[in-house]
Amino acid sequence: MTAAESFHIRTYGCQMNVHDSDKLTNLLHHSGWLNSETADEAGLLIINTCSIREKAENRLYSDLGALRDWKEAAPGRILGVGGCVAQQVGDALLRRFSHLDFVFGTHNLKLVPSMVDSASRGQRTSEVEENRSLARFDLPERHPELAADRAGAAFVTVMEGCDMFCSFCIVPRTRGREISRPAESILREARRLAEEGICEITLLGQTVNAYGRHDRRRAGGSPSGGAGFAELLAELDSIPGIRRIRYTSPHPLFFDASLIQAHASLKSLCPHVHLPVQSGSNRILEAMRRRYRREQYLEIVRDLRAAVPQIALTTDLIVGFPGERREDFQATLDLVREVGFVDHYGFKYSPRPDTTAIRMGDPVAPEEAQERLQELQGLQRELSLAHHRSRVGGWTEVLVEGQSRAGHGQFRGRDPSHRLVNLAADEEKPVEPISAGQIRSVELVEATPHSLIGIVRA
Ligand code: 5AD
Ligand code: SF4
Repeated sequence: MTAAESFHIRTYGCQMNVHDSDKLTNLLHHSGWLNSETADEAGLLIINTCSIREKAENRLYSDLGALRDWKEAAPGRILGVGGCVAQQVGDALLRRFSHLDFVFGTHNLKLVPSMVDSASRGQRTSEVEENRSLARFDLPERHPELAADRAGAAFVTVMEGCDMFCSFCIVPRTRGREISRPAESILREARRLAEEGICEITLLGQTVNAYGRHDRRRAGGSPSGGAGFAELLAELDSIPGIRRIRYTSPHPLFFDASLIQAHASLKSLCPHVHLPVQSGSNRILEAMRRRYRREQYLEIVRDLRAAVPQIALTTDLIVGFPGERREDFQATLDLVREVGFVDHYGFKYSPRPDTTAIRMGDPVAPEEAQERLQELQGLQRELSLAHHRSRVGGWTEVLVEGQSRAGHGQFRGRDPSHRLVNLAADEEKPVEPISAGQIRSVELVEATPHSLIGIVRA
């Protein structure tokens, strides 16, 4: 293989970006390109960017600076930038970085192969138009060369974009308006994945449980959404071979009784919900334009626990939002303890262009925000460890993902509640060799704050 025929994608950010990079990999394979493990061997390099916080955006600029040498090291090399920063900054990127060949937005993945062609003829292009057509969900089937690439699990896009406009968040500007993929297209993809041996699917959408709400409103249904998502889950649950269904990220506003009922009744819907709360203070939730109060969030948690007592809950939290006082932060700590999250992603507030929060006064000092983040992490460590310890001695089912990070030939995987389990072999009674993509029965023997340790028993 010559360098000119191989590509490498560098991906930053959320699962949505990881999945977009996977779609792009497929598109490029269909155009005759081959995947390369590193940028050094590649003739085409694409950076799939994230702009959720300033640090992520700045990473692109330092990367691009460093890539001048990469580009000059071999004639004909092509460099492209996509994802959220590309959508946000557009062709100004081409003006600022003369060694950049093309820029594509979050709705223009399908145009990339032709943009690469143009670049090979010396033409620099930028495509960042919002595409409202449902055809943007129609992508070619997975290339045979990529078929064996996944260990039993796959992402499935069900909706894209966001109409919520939380005051801190840039996503509605980078991912565009909310649009739901037709159910038939989702079901077709899920059936095909099951035929290919995939047993776990994760449904993706910025406010995934708002799925179908605009279509329902048009059809005279409830404008609050919710039911469309529960119906979709029920249809996916009936597909033979799909043993686990996950989804990320739901919004509390659309977390209605039909979704809670789905958790109670659907066999393959996993007992884990990642439900971003952002803050435990009503004053801050209002300033964030989250459109729910702490009490409503806690009610969802109560109802979910009543439906599925062992459900594991995780969340996203922001500290240091403008105007956040000590007592607001304390309300967040109290909420985290009251819910007993098994884990969370915590972030320091980062001002983003074109958001309403950027105009709010009363910033929190960076050192104070850092201290709050650390305090939150300390509390989470305690809660995660307590949760993990409570599970030692019990059994679970683990979908094996691959080799454990610790090495030693050990494996790791996720249980139904999305806990990371490092797997040790059963030395007394050897079992069949373990490989990625299997679901195995595991006895949990040890707990750490970040993972469980289990022995494969069957
Ligand atoms: N600053 C800090 N965190 C943010 N998030 C979104 N926007 C910002 C911002 N401006 C966090 C939220 C969201 C997660 C994906 O990223 O917690 O749920
Ligand atoms: Fe951003 Fe709010 Fe939309 Fe989530 S719901 S993507 S935080 S605007």
